[in-house]
Amino acid sequence: MKSLNVKCSRPYDVFIGKNLIDSIGDVVSENRRKCRALVLTDETVRDLYYARALRSLKSCGVEAVPCVLLPGEASKSFESYNKVIGVLTEQEFSRQDVVVSLGGGVVGDVAGFAASTYMRGIGLFQVPTTLLAMVDASVGGKNGINSEKGKNLIGTIYQPESVLCDTELLKTLPDEIFRDGLAEVIKCGVIRDARLFAALENEDPRLRNEDVIYRCVEIKRNIVQEDETDKNIRHLLNFGHTYGHAVEKLSGYTIRHGHAVMIGMILMARAARNMKLCREDCVPRLKNIARKYGLPVSTSFRADELTAAVMADKKRGTELLELVMPLTIGYAEIVPIRLDRLDMLTAAALNEQSDETQD
Ligand SMILES: NC(=O)c1ccc[n+]([C@@H]2O[C@H](COP(=O)([O-])OP(=O)(O)OC[C@H]3O[C@@H](n4cnc5c(N)ncnc54)[C@H](O)[C@@H]3O)[C@@H](O)[C@H]2O)c1
Ligand SMILES: [Zn+2]
Repeated sequence: MKSLNVKCSRPYDVFIGKNLIDSIGDVVSENRRKCRALVLTDETVRDLYYARALRSLKSCGVEAVPCVLLPGEASKSFESYNKVIGVLTEQEFSRQDVVVSLGGGVVGDVAGFAASTYMRGIGLFQVPTTLLAMVDASVGGKNGINSEKGKNLIGTIYQPESVLCDTELLKTLPDEIFRDGLAEVIKCGVIRDARLFAALENEDPRLRNEDVIYRCVEIKRNIVQEDETDKNIRHLLNFGHTYGHAVEKLSGYTIRHGHAVMIGMILMARAARNMKLCREDCVPRLKNIARKYGLPVSTSFRADELTAAVMADKKRGTELLELVMPLTIGYAEIVPIRLDRLDMLTAAALNEQSDETQD
């Protein structure tokens, strides 16, 4: 087992290893005399892992109350939030009690938002069950639900008390969802770790899950410690997400988050190359790694569609758009551009996409 300490407003440990789900009871009951845990999960994860989590909690004297969502992004909704708050109030949960998130990023985001707002904040434990949630969503405290006006529009930054990444749980993950998480791993490599990127080019990360997750959490931890409230450097973690969110939205969320982010990373690397900021080898290396892991390398959306979607998603009230651009594999920077340049940058990046496809 490996562990890391995240030193932010509330310091906490992230544990990474095999069969950690069986320790959730110990981790929750540590420093508490008696408490109850609302275990938020989705139907798929409940069928696979709820019984084990329950056994562990029970053996440590923690009473578990389940709350189960439907699997999928649509569950990041007011309805789910209401459902969780409904159970917490009906069962008269107090500030000594806790929320345990057992699931992917969707469950984690709803759990975090509910835990941070119920009685102005009760204890939160994250047990991520997807690669994406282990390397990204469960660490750093961001949570949220979607509104019809946009993704993650409602949420808070609220740190968990502990995060338990049980790498054995990844064995039941469908391949497509594992690959989705790999896009975020690739992102970590591009923005801060050339060696991680090279390892992904040369090896199969499934064989070294623990090391790969550890390194991604470490990169995220270092960034979050510097900018917990997302004012500056934390924006680096959005590499690939400007166009990525646009692709997700334009596809009506039929293209999964990581797949869309992969497309977004390639488009952004092209834009950076066109601005003469980025080394020539970035785009071909990104395309090769995407192909290696069965992730998409291009999009059929038009430049005007992408630009409009990016503009709708941009931070409200700002005249500049912050783009995260790689300068080389292993190092990215935040580059502010004027909004009126976006259309041209996008069109040029897409033109090259079709030129490259014809090669
Ligand atoms: N808060 C953050 O910092 C942050 C960061 C990145 C992403 N996110 C959010 O995370 C969400 C995406 O998360 P996700 O990709 O984990 O999706 P998800 O939570 O929808 O999980 C994907 C699917 O995998 C299933 N599943 C989960 N664990 C499983 C397992 N071990 N075995 C078999 N099936 C399993 C789920 O039931 C679901 O159908 C998005 O809403 C995104 O906005 C949040
Ligand atoms: Zn992401």
